[in-house]
This record gives sequence, structure tokens and C-alpha cells, in this order.
Amino acid sequence: MKLKFLSTLALAVIAVQCAPKTDIIQDNIENAKIQLKSLIEASEAGDTVRIPSTYKDGEIVYVPTDDWVSGFFAGTLWYMYELTGDEYWADHARKHTEVLDSIQYLKWHHDIGFMIYDSYGNGLRLKNIDGYKDVIVNAAKSLSTRFRPAAGVIQSWDADRGWQGTRGWKCPVIIDNMMNLELLIKATEFTGDSTFYKIAVSHADNTMKNHYRPDYSTYHVVDYDPETGEVRGRCTAQGYSDESAWARGQAWSLYGYTVMFRYTGDMKYLERAQKVADYLLNNPNMPEDLVPYWDFDCPDIPDTYRDASSAAVIASALYELYGFTANDLYKEKADKMIESLSSPAYRAEPGTNGGFILMHSVGSIPHGSSIDVPLNYADYYFLEALIRKGNIEKGLAPVKY
Ligand code: GLY
Repeated sequence: MKLKFLSTLALAVIAVQCAPKTDIIQDNIENAKIQLKSLIEASEAGDTVRIPSTYKDGEIVYVPTDDWVSGFFAGTLWYMYELTGDEYWADHARKHTEVLDSIQYLKWHHDIGFMIYDSYGNGLRLKNIDGYKDVIVNAAKSLSTRFRPAAGVIQSWDADRGWQGTRGWKCPVIIDNMMNLELLIKATEFTGDSTFYKIAVSHADNTMKNHYRPDYSTYHVVDYDPETGEVRGRCTAQGYSDESAWARGQAWSLYGYTVMFRYTGDMKYLERAQKVADYLLNNPNMPEDLVPYWDFDCPDIPDTYRDASSAAVIASALYELYGFTANDLYKEKADKMIESLSSPAYRAEPGTNGGFILMHSVGSIPHGSSIDVPLNYADYYFLEALIRKGNIEKGLAPVKY
């Protein structure tokens, strides 16, 4: 069901009221052109197309296709095409998308939604390329193999592999998994097979029931017994502590339920997204510039790292939430986040930062990985947020899907 709560007239008025004094969107596009062209040149310089993820010690770090971040660079290039209409970006986006072809069959972790939807999903939406629907449907089939019916959730990580294998989990589900559900919903739209949609709804409902604290912050990990469906425990993997609010997890939570409302029209998802937004926007540890510290409960605040990726995800979700609610606060706060991220405090000078747009994101502090660096997903959600902001200011719905 498609919902549009804002009338055309209301959107036209908003368009005038929101007309920016300086064109922050165009300024960011010009900056991104320089940065991303250099990343394209570097990543396409060898025999194969490589996937840039971050920049460390003066070197671009590339990841294999099965890494959870492998779809974001392709998606970033699709967003540049959407922002500019320039075929240059679509050509390179397509190259970086199709290098992920084999990922449609990946079954050993849940992130296939991020990987395939950000790349093939955006390519399909913007260019309707032959074969992309099939990839999305195959990917949804792969993701569905991780559904555990007794618990009614999709298992995020294998319990016997890598560092996860040391935690004693049986069926770990992380809040991030909310971001993989769009892929399933689209697969039902493309095939008419409601199985995928039902899995997405079941996962969202059980996550809503089991992942949240009374203040609407979310645990990072809930471990289920896949035989009985019982919750075995709640803890963190990437946050400060089991009871703390890891910033990007809160961002995925806000974004995930906003998307579920987009596709289902179920008010309980909208209400949950609004509760999460309240939690975030009223949090005493949210800094003035609205770029969160990496964990809202880190005792070292204010002497600890910010996470620009969380701000980008939250801003993008708030624009969509604004479209559903017409609550000006959401747009004001998202605009403030974009303003902060566009400032020299977070946005790299052209020609620096390895070609990435934003600085100062955090991958995982407990794992000692990607701390205070650029991250490809920070750039992806930043450009997405700019598109949504631009749509709203033109009097359009924030999200075209
Ligand atoms: N999905 C992993 C992360 O947000 O770091």
C-alpha cells in the first residue's frame, strides 16, 4: 500500500518554505563528483573491478564480494546517477553492481539484503535493467533459507563461524537485520509469492517484541533457540556494553521500521519508528551537531569517537518519516545532521580521504576495526539523505521506490 499523507498543495508550500538559502545539495554533489571519480579510477585500475570500503594508513581498503559492505559503493554510484542524471555514473554503477552477481546465492550471513538491494535494487529502480529482478528474487530465496520458523526470525550470523562462533549463540539476530527486509518485500512484489513478505513481517514483529528496551533503545543482539523460539539472551557485539545503545544499531532500528511502514502501511511500524526517533532526538548524549557518538552510553562521552555513518542513516530515515507524518521536527533535525556532515568537521576536502566523502565513522570498536575512518556506507546513506531532502524541497515524496 502506498501512503501519501502530505497533499500536493501542502508539499508545494513546504517546497517554498524549505527553499535552501545556499544550495547545500548542489555543493555536496560537486564535492562528491571529485571524490567518487577518484575512487572509481582507483577501483577500476586493475584487471578486475574492486570494491572500496574504507581508507586506512593512506591506502584504500578493498573488500571481497561477500563482505557485508560490498553493495554500498555500487549504490553510491547509482545515487550519483539519480542526483545528476549523468550516464557516466550509471555506467560505473552498473560495473560495480554486476561484479556482485554471485552474491545472489550467498547463504552464510544475512546481509544479502544490504548487498543486493543497494546495488541491483537501485539499478533496477533507476534503469530497469534486464535480469536484475531475477537477481533480487534469487537473493531473497537465499536470505529466506535463514528463516527459523519456531522463532519467526531470520538468523543473522552463523553460530559456528568466525568470532561469532566464540559467543555460545544458537541463533543470533541483530537489529541491523531489519535492513534486509526490503529485498524480501520486493521479491514478493516481483513474483506474487507471499512467502517472502510473510517472512519480512514475521521478522519485523518478533524483533519489535524482543529487541527493545522500555525506552525504545534496542539491544544489538538477541539470541534465540531455533528449536523452541525462546529468547536465550540479549547482548551486544559492536556496542559499548550489553545494556548500552550502540549508535548505528539505533539508526538501523529507526530506518528499518520506517521502511516496514512504507511497504505495509501498518501503523504499529510507524509508531515504533516515531518512538525510536523520540529516543534519539531527546537523548541527553546526542551532541549539539547531531552526529552521534559511536554508542549513546559510552562513559567516555564527550571524549570518544563520533560515528558519521549513524548520522547519515538517521538523517535519511528522518526525511522519510517526515514524509509520513509531516512532523517538521524530523526535517529540521535531518537538515541539521546534513549541515553538520557537510561541514569541514566531517566532510573531507576534495582530493583527500582516499576519495570517500565523509570522515569520522566507526565500524566496530570492540573488534578494533575501522575506527574513526571513512566508510562506504556513510557515503551511501549521506547521498540517499540528500536525494530525499531534495525531493521534499521540490514538493515531492521523499522516497521513490
Ligand atoms: N551491519 C554491521 C554494522 O552496522 O556495522
